[in-house]
Amino acid sequence: MNDFVFCSPTKFVFGRDAIDQTGAELAAAGFGKVLLVYGQGSVVRSGLLDRVKATLDAAGVSYAEAGGARPNPDVSWVREAIEKARTEQVDGVLAIGGGSVIDAAKATAFGVPYQGDVWDFFVKKQPIEACLPIAVVLTIPAAGSEASSSCVISCDAENRKLGTNGDIFRPKLAIMDPRVTFTLPTYQTAAGVTDMIAHICERYFSGVGAVPVTDNIATGLIVALMEAAPRVLEQPDDYDARATIMWAGTLAHNDIAGCGRSLVPTARAGGWESHALEHELSAHHPEITHGAGLAVVMPAWMRYVWKSDPQRFLDFASDVFGIEPVEEEFCPRDEAIEDAVTAAIDELQAFFRSLGMPATLADFGLSPADIDPLLETLKASKGEPFGAFQKLTMEDARAIYLSMF
Ligand code: NZQ
Ligand code: ZN
Repeated sequence: MNDFVFCSPTKFVFGRDAIDQTGAELAAAGFGKVLLVYGQGSVVRSGLLDRVKATLDAAGVSYAEAGGARPNPDVSWVREAIEKARTEQVDGVLAIGGGSVIDAAKATAFGVPYQGDVWDFFVKKQPIEACLPIAVVLTIPAAGSEASSSCVISCDAENRKLGTNGDIFRPKLAIMDPRVTFTLPTYQTAAGVTDMIAHICERYFSGVGAVPVTDNIATGLIVALMEAAPRVLEQPDDYDARATIMWAGTLAHNDIAGCGRSLVPTARAGGWESHALEHELSAHHPEITHGAGLAVVMPAWMRYVWKSDPQRFLDFASDVFGIEPVEEEFCPRDEAIEDAVTAAIDELQAFFRSLGMPATLADFGLSPADIDPLLETLKASKGEPFGAFQKLTMEDARAIYLSMF
């Protein structure tokens, strides 16, 4: 097990009564006036926004509003929210939504005290030294942003989608009531589960070898998700299955599933290759849902790189799917390993498809001619080569993208 630093400072209030505690928890945490950040209407339609406001009123927490953050949020929206937060002199930000809303809220929170343009933090990766406190009411389990050190923002004008990382903007408080996820469209539920599994796999396949305590958390989370996901597709108000998915999404990305795997103790574990490849897809095509993109990208990446460390993939095949290489005299060992690894990747992809996720880039209406522009921005974002499990050149990336048709 490698050395690590694990920082998860978020207070989680989880369960059926969680929403009602929002105002009191914010007041107790010292929030006096918050900017309410939300998306494109689901929290208005469900009545959740009004419920949250009522708890704020009751607790004496005042607020201003910034609604309309879109999926794969654009930096132009963040700039406007920063202006609003300054004008209204809020002392904190409350996100009511999923990864897009939370990331828009995070960027607003560290954009307010900064004199320059908030996009600087994404392109120049300069350290974020000040940030308003952030709280979250989570409405879709997926990105894990309610506890993660990441913030991902798009810039449509440049066809870029970039992330920045820092413990300084991990939320102080996350209010999590699985019942608010009953209204999620099937596609978003499925994309969320896919994203969680990707967050776990990015860390698991990070080329460090076995770390049993962390590996068991990782594969245990995947097994729990694979059991719960079909249940909520069948019955959207299955509370226990929704709760399993919601909490798994947090643990998939608060770094507990990567402890001891990082080569640099203070860095997040993982090479994040599938995320790098997906982020270019949703940067150039903002209509692509991040998790749906990953359902196509991750199996293709796995098929391309598994030979760099077959044992790692055999461990995954065994612990997640119970697949072992056949031990028979007439089957050469190499062939048995390849069969087992391929069977595990096939199973994973079949699971994503069973949830209604796409399997090819053509399912998004893309053609091979769309690949070159992705490589240009990928190189600018990640450099060349990039990744950890296997270093990838742009030619590798091209081959992986082309294998997705
Ligand atoms: O905008 P509204 O109307 O609220 O609708 C949203 C949106 O259309 C809808 N929705 C959310 N909660 C709902 C609901 N509909 C009905 N009932 C509810 N309870 O769901 C749609 C998707 O929401 P979004 O926030 O975009 O989903 P997700 O949580 O998957 O976030 C995706 C974003 O997070 C980034 C992605 O790249 C993408 O931009 N990521 C952020 C990460 C992080 N900060 O740690 C890590 C991830 O790897 C990811 O990159
Ligand atoms: Zn993700």
